[in-house]
Amino acid sequence: MQQSKTKILFVCLGNICRSPLAETIMNDLLEKRGLQDFYSVDSAGIIDYHEGERADYRMRCHASFRGYDITHLSRPVQKSDFEKFDLIIGMDNQNVRDLQSLAETEQQRDKIQKMTIYCPEFNRDTVPDPYYGGDAGFELVINMLEKGCANLIDALEQQRKEE
Ligand code: 4NP
Repeated sequence: MQQSKTKILFVCLGNICRSPLAETIMNDLLEKRGLQDFYSVDSAGIIDYHEGERADYRMRCHASFRGYDITHLSRPVQKSDFEKFDLIIGMDNQNVRDLQSLAETEQQRDKIQKMTIYCPEFNRDTVPDPYYGGDAGFELVINMLEKGCANLIDALEQQRKEE
């Protein structure tokens, strides 16, 4: 029987820097590992201020040097996302708090995680918001998300094989 896909939503504040990059890296890794049939990935923002916009130009430039093309258009998180997705992953503590207050049931709240649990190597409590900073912030975000997405896939694959 065809298994349904595990649906993952990455969330940050504006959905123009961190979460659209996470979505892009995740899709890239899934494709490289031949796992696209098992997972679907999207991203969204807590705020709707940038709705319809492409990712921040600086984020796209830094990402393109690593071979990533971010095509996502910003959109805000919707209540229906909590039913549609299996896993909802925020980038920082405020994202997680905001997601928790949007969730309407315990089951929905249980889907919320923070990205840093998948990149403990960095010893950081958040994937830091690069928006008001310089180049180093964008590079750090890419490094953390490359590692975090690889570890996330490993964890999901472990679960899938145990099922
Ligand atoms: P992101 O970065 O949450 O990683 O997309 C930000 C983008 C926009 C704003 C803040 C952070 N903003 O204040 O508009």
